[in-house]
Amino acid sequence: MSDWWKKAVIYQVYPRSFKDSNGDGWGDLKGIIDKLDYLQLLGVDALWISPVYDSPQDDNGYDIRDYRKIYDRFGSNADMERLIGEAHKRQIKIIMDLVANHTSDEHLWFQESKKSKDNLFSDYYIWKDPKPDGSAPNNWGSHFGGSAWEYVPERGQYYLHYYTKKQPDLNWENEKVRQEIYDLMQFWIDKGVDGWRMDVIAEISKYTDFPDYEPQSGKEFIVGSMHRNGPRLHEFIQEMNRAVLAPNDCMTVGEAPGSNAEIAKLFTNPKRQELNMIFTFEHVELDRVPGSPNRKWALRPFIFTELKQVLSNWQDTLHGCGWNALYFENHDRPRIISRWGNDTTYRKECAKAFATVLHGMQGTPYVYQGEEIGMVNAHYELNEYDDVEIKNAYKEYVIKNKSISEEVFKKAVWQVGRDNARTPMQWSAGEEAGFTTGEPCLKVNPRFPEINVDEALADQDSIFYYYKKLIDLRHHEPILTEGTYQLLLKDDPQLFVYERVYQDQKWLVVANFWEDTVEANPIAPFIYDQWEAVISNYSDADPHAPLKPYEAFIIRKIG
Ligand code: NOJ
Repeated sequence: MSDWWKKAVIYQVYPRSFKDSNGDGWGDLKGIIDKLDYLQLLGVDALWISPVYDSPQDDNGYDIRDYRKIYDRFGSNADMERLIGEAHKRQIKIIMDLVANHTSDEHLWFQESKKSKDNLFSDYYIWKDPKPDGSAPNNWGSHFGGSAWEYVPERGQYYLHYYTKKQPDLNWENEKVRQEIYDLMQFWIDKGVDGWRMDVIAEISKYTDFPDYEPQSGKEFIVGSMHRNGPRLHEFIQEMNRAVLAPNDCMTVGEAPGSNAEIAKLFTNPKRQELNMIFTFEHVELDRVPGSPNRKWALRPFIFTELKQVLSNWQDTLHGCGWNALYFENHDRPRIISRWGNDTTYRKECAKAFATVLHGMQGTPYVYQGEEIGMVNAHYELNEYDDVEIKNAYKEYVIKNKSISEEVFKKAVWQVGRDNARTPMQWSAGEEAGFTTGEPCLKVNPRFPEINVDEALADQDSIFYYYKKLIDLRHHEPILTEGTYQLLLKDDPQLFVYERVYQDQKWLVVANFWEDTVEANPIAPFIYDQWEAVISNYSDADPHAPLKPYEAFIIRKIG
């Protein structure tokens, strides 16, 4: 199996909001093709494209109606083939999103499955009889609120849905289901797809006895550890590896909620022949109040030393026996500089500081669309958001349970709502940020006149060119891919400092995550006698000088 992904940087495209080519307000495949030269200039090696399959769009395409057909608003199958071809011409690989834990309820399999207990597709989903009193089979909750079970009178049974009611979970115990998934993967691989991002792959194997969770106060339905890492998970992934991944030399990244670094070894140790890497949730959920009935909307202040500890633990644990997927942003996470940094006075410095720390680590970095120009969170009125997660949570926690006030909920949405990252890509200072000539599917972030691609490309000192340089370093410096990692100053509340070592090379990565200058410079003991700057976000990197607000640099030992 090839390992090009070890020296690669992957760019995530969220098609709906990337670039609209026909003025209908939705991004589309032609729009992505139009921007391939831009992506080539940035230097990324592959695009992970969020789902573009036919879908009723209840969860923006993570609810698939037909795996073999492109959704009309995104284009046609021919457009997808053209995108693959045009990307390949530019040495850019294409990673598709495999959503195989669930389908749409409008998928033919479910339409048939719900009709009776004895048709061809009856066992494609997870059906259970009601409890004797007619209630749901257990107290499991959906990630998007409410019960994870929905009753269908036609069958006299409940089906399981970890996400919305329109996203029934597939029954991976059924061999035919697994084969269907491998077949559809092969369908796209035959069209040139190079790899897969696997949606909530850690959830595909279920605890099939479906025991109740221990009751918890304030919660009618519970989402917990039994929702993931089920007993046959690794067996299923190994089977998929044998059936499709290995024979086609696919690159893979699994989305693995509930995984710690030890579990990550099970997925990513090459000896086990499962996946290349996984996305962890540990570092991006550090500001969540554990166990709150308001789930992700219950926020606590973020503690910087915890971020260092978590990221470093993943570096240490996977070194030599697994691989990291490095990310701060994606279509489910807010803009990192708005969340934990400064997106106003020091927006550019701050974006570069986060990037320096992430791209200095071992693993495969992911850049989410707009991250490379320092896009920021969108602070909208609640009714201006479109995300089903926000809408469901509002109904459940604000209206029904009254467990959170509207004001506190809105603040939480501004902080961590998914639509923060889903606003249209800001290409220019023109109408609708150059995203569409029509009415955009989601309001454009009003800061687009200041933050846009045209501006970034015209400024040699922009965040864009800083990312470009980091990406270039990843391609050419084996210390980034192979070197050891050691966190320094672990208890320092302002500085993220670590050292990479490879053969006779040493690199020191330093970032001040603070809006103030750090006067007494604690990195002094680690500075090499002779050094040169590899990259720096202020023009005059001097490790001996006080560290300026959000100053970040990498220096290498010379001599
Ligand atoms: C994870 C995806 O990233 C998210 O956007 C989606 O809502 C859920 N999985 C369900 O597919």
